[in-house]
Amino acid sequence: MAEDLHITASSKAEKYQQLYPQIKSLLEGETDSIANMANVCAALKFGMTFFWVGFYLIKNNELVLGPFQGPIACTRISKGKGVCGTAWKKNDVIIVDDVDQFPGHISCSSLSKSEIVLPFYNSKNEIIGVLDVDSENYKSFDETDKEWLKKILLLLN
Ligand code: SME
Repeated sequence: MAEDLHITASSKAEKYQQLYPQIKSLLEGETDSIANMANVCAALKFGMTFFWVGFYLIKNNELVLGPFQGPIACTRISKGKGVCGTAWKKNDVIIVDDVDQFPGHISCSSLSKSEIVLPFYNSKNEIIGVLDVDSENYKSFDETDKEWLKKILLLLN
């Protein structure tokens, strides 16, 4: 296992391109899903310089905070609530350019300005949670993030 991430690129797409194989090798040989989710969060937070990266996992019909990197966060989110609960309900990726414009956005930190939330599936393609990535800047996320984050989530299957 590599001890450090090496990201030299400056463009977002190139950063993901450099990060992806490093995450892949980081997860290789480890079957514990919590350990792997935790390392994915750390790799994304520090590799891509995001503000907050974390998983919310479905437990008893509610999203419960899982492995994350960043400031402390709210622990439970109902289906359909906030960006995370909406992504779960719609079973779809949601990109929010300005969190203050998203009705019902759950503000865990006033520093978070934009976010992307992706459904997280198990190997049977059943939704088991969401990945939430937050930025301190407005309009930080686009199709590039969507595609690469989807690919990275598949590494967890
Ligand atoms: N942004 C989320 C809440 C979780 S925190 O940002 C970590 C939402 O509205 O779903």
